Amino acid sequence: MPRNDRFLNACRGKQVDRMPVWLMRQAGRYMPEYRAIRKRHNFLEMIGSPELATEITLQPIKAFDLDAAIIFSDILPTLGELGFEIEYVDSVGPVIGNPVRSPDDIVRLKASENHTQSRATCEAIRLTCAALNGTIPLIGFAGAPFTLAAYAIEGGSSNHFLATRQFLREHPKPFHSLLGRIADAVSEYVRGQVEAGASAVQLFDSWAGVLGPTDFADFALPYARQILDTLQDTGVPRIYFSTGTCGILPQIKETGADVVGIDWRTSIARARSTLGGDITIQGNLDPTVLLSSASEAKRQARIILDEMNGARRYIFNLGHGVLKETPVDHVRQLVDTVHSHEAGKSP
Ligand code: CP3
Repeated sequence: MPRNDRFLNACRGKQVDRMPVWLMRQAGRYMPEYRAIRKRHNFLEMIGSPELATEITLQPIKAFDLDAAIIFSDILPTLGELGFEIEYVDSVGPVIGNPVRSPDDIVRLKASENHTQSRATCEAIRLTCAALNGTIPLIGFAGAPFTLAAYAIEGGSSNHFLATRQFLREHPKPFHSLLGRIADAVSEYVRGQVEAGASAVQLFDSWAGVLGPTDFADFALPYARQILDTLQDTGVPRIYFSTGTCGILPQIKETGADVVGIDWRTSIARARSTLGGDITIQGNLDPTVLLSSASEAKRQARIILDEMNGARRYIFNLGHGVLKETPVDHVRQLVDTVHSHEAGKSP
């Protein structure tokens, strides 16, 4: 297969022959191939083994006509390297055994010493790049500091992140110190991913939308920008993804990202008019659309494709990750719909 640069060209604002498409969480439990491996290994074993992580990264690439791969890993192991105890509990999700309960818990954080998981992910990046052999680019990723700090305080997933929003108001200084520690660890990690061969890096700030504009400016933006800045000299496109932030898109622009990932709560046309023409937009199909029917998924995808009508600087994706209940065939039909869409024509 010849080299396919659609994704990287779209990141850089160059002309593309077809709309590039990849999907957040494209490797995962909705795929029978993934579940077969998951039966024999727990999640930490899967992301801790470079060979297994490579195999899982390639599963959706073999199954669908995607324009980019994303390395199979998770955002939370970075917290593990700062001394947090992370466990993945079936049908609960991630649980942190020693969450931050007081400012003292932040003071007591260790210097980051154990890099076992980040080394495994970087090794998986090397193996995956060798296997892809230049056909499509590989995306590296990490969690953004605010989202990781929110997990460290909540001790796991949460609906409204009330403990985090209370903590940052009561203890802003220790919270900044936690964010700074995480930002330094993530910066080093993503630079390592690029050295290992990642062609682009996505920062997941999935929970930044729980913050109002002032808190976002104080507690999320500077740390995300710090990480994206440290990658600037590498020349790889830098993607900033968040959800629930369509009300603060002008601030999202200030992260300095080359690509902004948006959820489904706004239209691309609106996002474009706020972000301007110099940024690539990635998104924004509601992942639940893939649960309904292939024809509905195609119909909704065409609304986005028509809206983007021949535009540069757009990457088709979901507004958040593929849900585990998603039928595999719907994903296949979606990807094929994006690639068969001709600018200016609506079938
Ligand atoms: O996109 C990809 O294909 C790469 C893989 C990937 C995973 N997690 C695999 C995973 C990526 C990019 C992530 C990022 C991630 N992890 C985020 C940011 C994106 C988002 O979804 O908001 C967050 C918040 C996490 C934290 C996390 N990891 C949660 C909340 C959970 C449990 C809930 C869930 O959706 O499963 C995980 C576990 C996890 N990460 C699984 C996978 C495939 C499921 C593990 C299993 O097999 O049980």
